[in-house]
Amino acid sequence: MEQRKILVTSALPYANGAIHLGHLMETIQTDIWVRLQKMRGHDCLYVCADDAHGTAIMLSAEKRGITSEQLIDEVKQQHMQDFADFHIGFDNYHSTHTEENRALSASIYKALEANGHIARRSIKQLFDPEKKLFLADRYITGTCPKCKTAGQYGDNCEACGSTYSPAELIDPRSVISGATPIEKESEHFFFRLPEFSDMLKTWTRSGTLQDQVANKLSEWLDEELQEWDISRDAPYFGFEIPGAPGKYFYVWLDAPIGYMASLQNLCDRTDYKFDDYWHKDSTAEVYHFIGKDIINFHTLFWPAMLTSTGYRTPTAVYVHGFLTVDGTKMSKSRGTFVNARTYLEQLDPEYLRYYLAAKLSSGIDDLDLNLEDFVQRVNSDLVGKVVNIASRCAGFISKGFDGMLSETPDNLALLKEIQAASEDIARHYEAREYSKAVRLIMALADKANQYINDKEPWVIAKTDKTSPQLQAICSTGINAFRLLMCYLKPVLPAMAAKAEDFLAIAPLQWRDSGELLTNHQISKFKPLLTRVEADKVKAMIETTQQSYADKPADQPAADTASETAETGLEPEIGFDDFIKVDLRVALITNAEQVEGADKLLRITLDIGKDKAGNPMTRTVLSGIKSAYQPKALIGRLTVLVANLQPRKMKFGTSEGMILAAGPGGKDIWLLQPDSGAEPGMRIT
Ligand code: MSP
Ligand code: ZN
Repeated sequence: MEQRKILVTSALPYANGAIHLGHLMETIQTDIWVRLQKMRGHDCLYVCADDAHGTAIMLSAEKRGITSEQLIDEVKQQHMQDFADFHIGFDNYHSTHTEENRALSASIYKALEANGHIARRSIKQLFDPEKKLFLADRYITGTCPKCKTAGQYGDNCEACGSTYSPAELIDPRSVISGATPIEKESEHFFFRLPEFSDMLKTWTRSGTLQDQVANKLSEWLDEELQEWDISRDAPYFGFEIPGAPGKYFYVWLDAPIGYMASLQNLCDRTDYKFDDYWHKDSTAEVYHFIGKDIINFHTLFWPAMLTSTGYRTPTAVYVHGFLTVDGTKMSKSRGTFVNARTYLEQLDPEYLRYYLAAKLSSGIDDLDLNLEDFVQRVNSDLVGKVVNIASRCAGFISKGFDGMLSETPDNLALLKEIQAASEDIARHYEAREYSKAVRLIMALADKANQYINDKEPWVIAKTDKTSPQLQAICSTGINAFRLLMCYLKPVLPAMAAKAEDFLAIAPLQWRDSGELLTNHQISKFKPLLTRVEADKVKAMIETTQQSYADKPADQPAADTASETAETGLEPEIGFDDFIKVDLRVALITNAEQVEGADKLLRITLDIGKDKAGNPMTRTVLSGIKSAYQPKALIGRLTVLVANLQPRKMKFGTSEGMILAAGPGGKDIWLLQPDSGAEPGMRIT
């Protein structure tokens, strides 16, 4: 077999959050594929990096009072540790905020410009006059111009579904500072994507993409392509555009170049050569594994940029669907938005690797992690089938034969059948049809177990512990186990390493399945994998739920209030903390149902006038629907925490909290000031 030269990447995780099960679905899918290639003797490199740039990262760092550089260094260490603990075998893990990436991004940009593929023009955008920052859509909230629902984001309304430009929002606010944004003009740089329309039509149909993906893209390609805005104004955490002070590359410009930068960094430390992979005449294979949310970046912008600048394009982009848990999107309030670390505190990483492999296919459909099925499947397949073969045979071999396997196994036909599946299994892995590979392997494991059941070695051992027949039967079992572990090794590298130890053999390569272990002394059997305990899964979900309980993004505020109430008092605060809370008398001028929300009412409050005499209003999403009819609230006075940072929730932004008390359900009482109070009065 000819050795292939292959470069593989997973999408670069953003450096402002922890690795979670969704990321892991992607890296585990990629890692299994890479491990297969390596076991097959191919020269395969797997590189990745943190995606370190952008406004979100800059703002996160600011919130924590550290520099962006400090934040991304810290996060990178955590990401690398999480991946290592899940046995993700990167050959290099780098960052986009590095010299390699700066140099490559600058040179690619200069080439794009020299080729006439960069346009410049002024555009108008909303600008936060307090933070002195241009606001991306998701940083603007306001009232929908069509249906007048308050608390809508950016450019579309969740209530009525209409789309608009953020500038059309009524009473728009910056999510960052709460200030009213102004329109401001500035010059932006654009990549002339439409010039690549023909090239992309051909490229996307040349076998580089799954049919489902190519079909989706052809809808876009049939319409006119838009130029792509690749610049952002300062302040921005990223690379300044050469020759354009104050202008930065948009994070998505230098992110895919990060794939190259990570390889460059590896080449600088080894004999690998960058040009062998990225030169336009390169014969190496290049694959990007990505999720379905970032298709356009990898299949339109990226191949067009590469083509303009004289690099080769990827051999293929492999797109996967999203991970759901128990049938729904990963959710913080449900506790299913599980971080890598929280999982590892309770469970063995190979359970997840196996479960995902058993369900992954080459399509872009979502994959559901059903927690009950997870426990059941791992226990019945890995512990009940695979480990069981070895554990039922190993004891007799060590006790009766000092660990020696027989010269000839008892059932060569069975072993030949398992050996004969080798190429089919490899083909399924290669085609990313892991579930098919696993199904084949488990069917063979069933046969091996059936054989042991039929031969009942324990019955023979009762009368003769050193019977040659007993040795031959158990040697068959051990050989079957070895072959199955060889096939499972891309999925279960740690368990395979333990098995290699127990079998006293060199690390298994794919071709080793062509041979059998005879006249060979094995070591004492040690447990290879323990059963999944359902309690641990429960603990993982509960820990996750608790970790978000005090900062829910997808949950109404009142829920948390009652949750904390159950745990007793909050930690003491000082007087200084107390006076920071600005409590105001507020008049409820409107209250309405929030479509789709079980517990929320959208409440509009009049809180008097500001210093210049302009009326001040706030819109609050409050979880008091179970206790109050909206109409009954209008005209009443209540108490509002007026200086609470606006909070983004699933149904919009809430600008403060109204104070209420009670156990919940029908029994929630709005705190009301004595009569004589007026909107805007401060409560002291
Ligand atoms: N930084 C960009 C990628 C730049 S690549 C040049 C990004 N980062 S991300 O952290 O949001 O996502 C990284 C990868 O994880 C993406 O491929 C994304 O599709 C994948 N996933 C994130 N959540 C996921 C699930 N719930 N399920 C499966 N994959 C998911 O996008
Ligand atoms: Zn609307």
